[in-house]
Amino acid sequence: MGIDCLYCHTSAEKTAIAGVPATETCYTCHSQIWTSSPLLQVVRDSYEKDIPIEWNRVNNVPDFVYFDHSIHVAKGVSCFTCHGRIDNQNLTFKENAFQMKWCLDCHRNPEEFVRPDAEVFNPEYHYGPDHAQLGRELVKKRGIVKEQLDDCSVCHH
Ligand code: HEC
Ligand code: HEC
Ligand code: HEC
Ligand code: HEC
Ligand code: HEC
Repeated sequence: MGIDCLYCHTSAEKTAIAGVPATETCYTCHSQIWTSSPLLQVVRDSYEKDIPIEWNRVNNVPDFVYFDHSIHVAKGVSCFTCHGRIDNQNLTFKENAFQMKWCLDCHRNPEEFVRPDAEVFNPEYHYGPDHAQLGRELVKKRGIVKEQLDDCSVCHH
């Protein structure tokens, strides 16, 4: 439907966690539309009884790994680079295993992945043939110090 990711995951740009929306967020629309959909019974029950919906968490890193959403979004790493085409997933699934190697592949070569600010939330973005040059410029402009990004202490405090 083109609803902004940040409409529901409100803290992804500001804090370590992206956040999952409260029932009230669903209710701003679903008190008006699709009010009799059986699929939305769980939302209506939650609202009326004031009991939060229990979502199943699919993406996780172990406790000994530190991860922060806000810095990635601020430096031009897209939700879709890490979570895949969420906009096409009927049921949310874990697109990447989040193994250490996967994090390091980007931390050692961030220029291959960073996007211009306007493209961070664009699911259709394609890296053009001139991306190598653009990526290097973005890394420089945003002050990303890639030489330090694979230090153990970055992710293991
Ligand atoms: C209308 C509110 C809403 C919008 C808009 C929305 N999400 Fe979500 N998202 C949710 C809810 C609720 C969940 C938990 C249920 C689930 O996992 O399916 C979720 C789950 C997720 C998860 C998995 C979380 C986990 O369990 O690890 C990711 C990743 C995610 N969303 C990313 C996105 C991205 C990227 C966008 C923008 C394209 C987006 N979402 C837009 C409500 C929303
Ligand atoms: C900004 C408005 C908006 C918000 C907020 C919103 N929705 Fe929706 N939702 C829609 C619209 C519009 C549709 C109808 C889509 C269509 O017709 O294809 C829909 C459809 C649905 C459906 C399908 C209903 C059916 O019977 O097929 C479900 C389930 C649903 N939403 C769940 C949620 C949940 C859960 C949340 C909160 C996490 C949420 N929505 C938040 C606008 C919204
Ligand atoms: C650099 C990769 C990366 C990017 C970019 C990214 N995520 Fe995540 N996301 C992760 C990882 C890793 C986890 C698991 C974190 C944990 O276990 O602490 C996660 C967890 C989540 C979760 C569930 C837990 C939580 O934090 O609420 C949601 C929802 C989510 N991401 C949404 C988003 C949205 C929306 C965006 C874009 C604004 C986004 N992510 C961008 C890697 C990423
Ligand atoms: C697609 C690229 C990409 C992926 C994948 C990625 N990162 Fe990052 N990460 C970055 C960039 C770019 C920065 C910003 C570095 C800077 O500002 O100098 C960053 C910064 C960080 C920081 C903050 C460093 C600081 O100095 O504050 C942490 C922590 C981090 N990443 C952890 C992770 C973990 C853990 C994973 C895997 C689960 C991961 N990242 C996956 C690109 C990525
Ligand atoms: C960019 C983030 C990042 C950096 C930098 C990083 N790690 Fe990791 N590390 C991870 C993640 C994510 C995991 C969890 C992988 C998983 O769950 O499969 C992990 C797991 C581990 C584990 C546990 C392995 C296991 O099999 O349980 C060890 C040990 C480890 N890292 C050591 C290091 C050392 C030593 C360094 C520095 C040379 C380092 N890490 C740098 C992200 C990072």
